[in-house]
Amino acid sequence: MKNVLVIGSTGQIGSELTMKIRREIPEGNVVAGYIPGAEPKGELLESGPAELADVRNAQQLADIVEKYGIDTIYNLAALLSAVAEKKPLLAWDIQMNGLLNILEVAREKKCAVFTPSSIGSFGPETPHVGTPQDTIQRPRSMYGVTKVATELLSDYYFHKYGVDTRSVRFPGLISNVTLPGGGTTDYAVEVYYSAVKGEEFVCPIAPGTYMDMMYMPDALGAAVHLMQADPSRLVHRNSFNIASMSFEPETLFAKIREYIPSLKVRYEVDPVRQAIANSWPDSMDDSCARAEWDWKPTYDIDSMTVDMIACLRRKLL
Ligand code: SER
Repeated sequence: MKNVLVIGSTGQIGSELTMKIRREIPEGNVVAGYIPGAEPKGELLESGPAELADVRNAQQLADIVEKYGIDTIYNLAALLSAVAEKKPLLAWDIQMNGLLNILEVAREKKCAVFTPSSIGSFGPETPHVGTPQDTIQRPRSMYGVTKVATELLSDYYFHKYGVDTRSVRFPGLISNVTLPGGGTTDYAVEVYYSAVKGEEFVCPIAPGTYMDMMYMPDALGAAVHLMQADPSRLVHRNSFNIASMSFEPETLFAKIREYIPSLKVRYEVDPVRQAIANSWPDSMDDSCARAEWDWKPTYDIDSMTVDMIACLRRKLL
């Protein structure tokens, strides 16, 4: 991994992943790919190249790969679960036609490809507790349908053409640089902003709803580490369960109140998000990732909360 294209570089994951890879591979070109209306700014813009990279434009992708000698593509373009329910055709277009364009460029130019999957790739029939690596994947959301298809198509390109595709099933990602855009797990990010700003938080997810969550530094570590892993050890490729913490909303709120006792929360359950959340795992079994590429998270709910509050106080107050 030396010359890297990050597609979706201004999104929740991309804005931090691009900077991490630039720091770790200073001799490489790490291109911040973006779409109109989501241009990189500040440090992201100033610390390396940036190019228009719409996944739906195959020629644009091929030109960037050629120009910078790209060897690895991080494909982070996606509509998250709640937005994808509102715009299912657009979600399919970005997530599937976009992926096909990327995999074709990767086949021709011999690039490795990372396209995240998600807890959203599971559905109501999936075992919810200790969700195994290899199990039933029959999601009912468009987001989930595209994520299962992403896993299958990525594995297809590996087996048929030898394209080095690898990926993880991300839990809900909690971060403090860029807000997520329309996911079911977003509440676990937004409540920190409300807590630090001293505003009441309106929670769209009902008490008692467990979902896997992860702090962004662990998620970024997984994305980089997996792409650098010894391929001879990988039994699986698309995609690995990775897990670090699982909680229901009231557990998170109680944890935040240990540091910000004034946090006020009211529940106003969103039926679309709640139905999606109910169909997702409570907690995934990530033993294959641990065995095949030494995955190990570093943050738990307490250390994450301390860091989130400190970072957001610096940013917002
Ligand atoms: N965070 C995503 C969502 O809620 C799940 O991968 O849509």
